[in-house]
Amino acid sequence: MNDFSFYSPTRIMFGRKMADHVGEHVAAAGYTSALLVYGTSSVVRTGTLERVKASLDAAGVAHVELGDVRPNPEISSVREGLRIAREANVDLILPVGGGSAIDCAKAIALGIPYDGDVWDFFRKRAAPAQRIDVACVLTLPASGSEASNSCVISNDAEHLKCGCNTDLNRPVMAFMDPELTFTLPPYQTAAGITDMCAHIMERFFSGQPAVPVTDNIACGLIRAIMDAAPRVMENPQDYDARANIMWAGTLAHNGIAGLGLGCAGGRDGDWSCHGMEHELSAFDVKITHGAGLAVLFPAWMRYVWREHPERFLEFGRQVFGIEPVDPEADGVGITPEQAIEDAVMETIDELQEFFCSLGMPRTLAEFGMKADDIDSLMPGLKITRGEVFGNFKKLTLDDARAIYESAL
Ligand code: NZQ
Ligand code: ZN
Repeated sequence: MNDFSFYSPTRIMFGRKMADHVGEHVAAAGYTSALLVYGTSSVVRTGTLERVKASLDAAGVAHVELGDVRPNPEISSVREGLRIAREANVDLILPVGGGSAIDCAKAIALGIPYDGDVWDFFRKRAAPAQRIDVACVLTLPASGSEASNSCVISNDAEHLKCGCNTDLNRPVMAFMDPELTFTLPPYQTAAGITDMCAHIMERFFSGQPAVPVTDNIACGLIRAIMDAAPRVMENPQDYDARANIMWAGTLAHNGIAGLGLGCAGGRDGDWSCHGMEHELSAFDVKITHGAGLAVLFPAWMRYVWREHPERFLEFGRQVFGIEPVDPEADGVGITPEQAIEDAVMETIDELQEFFCSLGMPRTLAEFGMKADDIDSLMPGLKITRGEVFGNFKKLTLDDARAIYESAL
């Protein structure tokens, strides 16, 4: 087991009607003035924003607003939020929404104490040293941003989507009411489920040897997600299933699912699929992050599995109950190598079928992408990931191109 440091300071307030109690908790923690950050319309339509505002008013917490933050949030929204937050001199950034609203809020929080351009943090021209606090009201279980150290922002002018990882990004509080997720469209529910599975798998397939405690957490989370997923797709108002999905989304990405699997000097996982996916949503902002991962993860797995087949066998065994056939048994007639390959392929196929069963795409062509479009993905990938990236298998840009091509 590799050394690790685990820091997860976010206070999780989980359960029914949490949106009505935001104000009292925020006030009790000493905050007096908040910038609300939200998306293009859902929290207005569902009444969630009004409920949060009413709770702030009741607790005497002043508030200003930044709305219309789009999915795959853009740096211009961050800059606009910075202007509003500074003018109002807020002491808390309070996103109400999914990963996009939360990430926009995190970037604003990093930008407030910084004199330069906040984009510097995403292009690695500067490292954030301070922030003001973020507390979030989660409406979409997917990104895990409610407790993660990540923040991902797009820059349309530069055709880039870049992450900034720092513990400063971890929110101080997350209000999580599964009832708020009843209104999610099936596609967003499915993309969220895919994204949380991906966060667990990016860590599981880090290339590091087994850590049974962590591996059991990881595979147990995936089994719980796979158990609840058909129930939320079938009945969007199944509270228990929604609650399990929501909680799994947080644990998938707060760090606990990768402890001891970290790579020296690097992050706790592989993250190639996330890197390659971010180029898809930078290429076409309409591509939902989880949907891109549903296509790329199985393609990546088929390309890299030979580096550490034992990790795939463990995953297949724990998640799908797949055991390689015994090549010695009478009538089997295959080599041990073939038995392993068959079990790994069956595991990857099962995973892909699970994503597809939720309504996720199988190919890049389903996003309207063609072979020529892959050229447009490569410059951004080179800037954000470098010439060689990943840990399970070191990938060159040519490898990445081959994975994209295999996913067409
Ligand atoms: O924009 P609105 O109107 O709010 O609608 C949103 C949006 O269209 C809608 N929605 C959210 N909650 C809803 C709802 N609709 C009905 N009912 C509700 N309760 O869902 C759509 C997608 O929302 P978005 O916030 O974009 O989705 P998600 O939470 O998947 O976040 C995606 C972003 O997070 C980044 C992704 O790259 C992407 O930019 N990620 C952030 C991470 C992090 N900070 O740790 C890690 C992830 O790997 C990921 O990269
Ligand atoms: Zn993700």
